[in-house]
Amino acid sequence: MIPHVLPTYNRADLAFEKGEGAWAITADGTRYLDLGAGIAVNALGHANPQLVEALTDQAGKIWHVSNLYQIPQQERLASLLVEHTFADTVFITNSGTEAAELSIKMVRKFWAEAGDPDRIEILTFEGAFHGRSTGAIAASGSEKMVKGFGPLMPGFRQLPWGDMEALKAAISDRTAAVMLEPIQGEGGIRPLSDDDMRLIRQLCDQTGALLVLDEVQAGMGRTGRLFAHEWSGIRPDIMMVAKGIGGGFPLGAVLATEKAASGMVAGSHGSTYGGNPLACAVGAKVMEIIATPEFLAEVNRKAGLFRQKLEALVAAHPEVYESVRGQGLMLGLRTHVAPADVVKAGYAEHLLTVPAADSTLRLLPPLNISDDEITEAVARLDRAASRIDGQ
Ligand SMILES: Cc1ncc(COP(=O)(O)O)c(C=O)c1O
Repeated sequence: MIPHVLPTYNRADLAFEKGEGAWAITADGTRYLDLGAGIAVNALGHANPQLVEALTDQAGKIWHVSNLYQIPQQERLASLLVEHTFADTVFITNSGTEAAELSIKMVRKFWAEAGDPDRIEILTFEGAFHGRSTGAIAASGSEKMVKGFGPLMPGFRQLPWGDMEALKAAISDRTAAVMLEPIQGEGGIRPLSDDDMRLIRQLCDQTGALLVLDEVQAGMGRTGRLFAHEWSGIRPDIMMVAKGIGGGFPLGAVLATEKAASGMVAGSHGSTYGGNPLACAVGAKVMEIIATPEFLAEVNRKAGLFRQKLEALVAAHPEVYESVRGQGLMLGLRTHVAPADVVKAGYAEHLLTVPAADSTLRLLPPLNISDDEITEAVARLDRAASRIDGQ
């Protein structure tokens, strides 16, 4: 018999009753050190007092009004995002997938309004993940995600990951946009170099193609800058954000320049829940906390400490771990064994990690994890590896 919950996930036999900072706690009080953070969502840890206050304050006032009315909390969040980024305008969504959908629509509308409605080709990279909607799976093109869901939305072409020669050959003045994650998340914590990011921007400038960045996983302070593309000094035309921005509350956003958003006039897009007061009150608080030089400096300091310890861990267990990659607190451990085996061994050590493609274990702790918790996490990763290699 089919379970009451549609069985689209292979779930671990674990349920958490509450959380405190970097710890998720089961009903019997067992504490798991959480290096998954709900897949890069709980950026400020579980039950963060400042976020609980922002949420409960708003919950006692008004939850939802619809976008038929002015929503001051939405305006505040949008203003904070504009103030701290390349963007001139923001649409608030409930998830990363919705942000991907709107980004694709925005690209198409841009070219339609420019009098070139057939300019629809969006170049993406293999291994990309933008969500599970029909548009987002077409963008990714991965066999696993698209099988059985055709015919796919046309207009996407996947290039080998990070292959700049392939991009140079594929891009032209018929390309509508290039869409990519600066660091692939689900694809295995695969970063593009700053030089490649600058080259992509240059190729877009030369051809007129829009540059769409998916910072759903890499954004909101995760790499040690507010958004990952800032490391390379470039600016996108459109950017999708989600996950960390809500700190655990479902929230996403599309940020755009005035030019890229020029086709999105009244009636061209909408959302019942997107931008509601509850979500935006939390999102604005998250922005206030993360978008400060002090907070981001701490992320970078902790990332340095974590990375150093992880390099030593790799040296101690060369048959389990191969190398460390990623940036800031978006870290990946490449593994010689199936990453799912390390995740399982981690459960036995009361440690939560997340597998990814390309033989990679993802480490995405809350950004405010403490130094002691980093030390403890590496000790548990060490014991998890010992369960596998006997060392
Ligand atoms: C880079 C990236 N884009 C988009 C998404 C989709 O976001 P959501 O699951 O919130 O719809 C994800 C989710 O993992 C993601 O990692």
